[in-house]
Amino acid sequence: MHPDMEKILFSKVEIDEKVHELGNILSRDYVGKELLMVGILKGASVFLADLVRAMDIDVRIDFIAVSSYGTSSKSTGVVRILKDLDKSIELRHVLIVEDIVDTGLTLNYLLEILKARNPASVRICTLLDKPSRRGVNVPVDYNGFAIPDEFVVGYGLDYNEKYRHLPEIYVLKKEIYQYSK
Ligand code: PRP
Repeated sequence: MHPDMEKILFSKVEIDEKVHELGNILSRDYVGKELLMVGILKGASVFLADLVRAMDIDVRIDFIAVSSYGTSSKSTGVVRILKDLDKSIELRHVLIVEDIVDTGLTLNYLLEILKARNPASVRICTLLDKPSRRGVNVPVDYNGFAIPDEFVVGYGLDYNEKYRHLPEIYVLKKEIYQYSK
């Protein structure tokens, strides 16, 4: 195990099974519809890449980048678009793909922005959910794992841009993040 990690939360096999479970449900729910999957950079990139390959319907993908936390582990509530979608989503079925929903501020903001662009539908799919941290009510339609309030990294999730490449999801050791800004 990586020396900065406290413990493993989800193994490669557990993640793979969950991604395929979600992929099957999504393929069934969106059959016959043109689906645009919108990954929120950067955390969701790994999940999105696996999720689309676990689906057996035609999908399109796009990405949007927002800033919420910066390099701090605390939410500031400040969210702004750093990179917008490439194309219009008007009359399209949109699925927002997130790695984790924490306070919900990021999604709450994005949902309002995307709904205002008049899509046919907008739903949310997240791999991880920390329900105990929720500050605003966001409707999560597809959820992989509910997790406790611990600092998790790996499989796209970072701390100071590190650990995104790890194929498993871990709880980060407290001493790695508690004394740094
Ligand atoms: C993380 C995560 C979500 C957001 C969730 O992104 O990917 O987008 O925080 O937190 P919230 O529910 O409290 O808003 P982050 O800003 O760390 O960027 P990253 O995806 O580039 O790591």
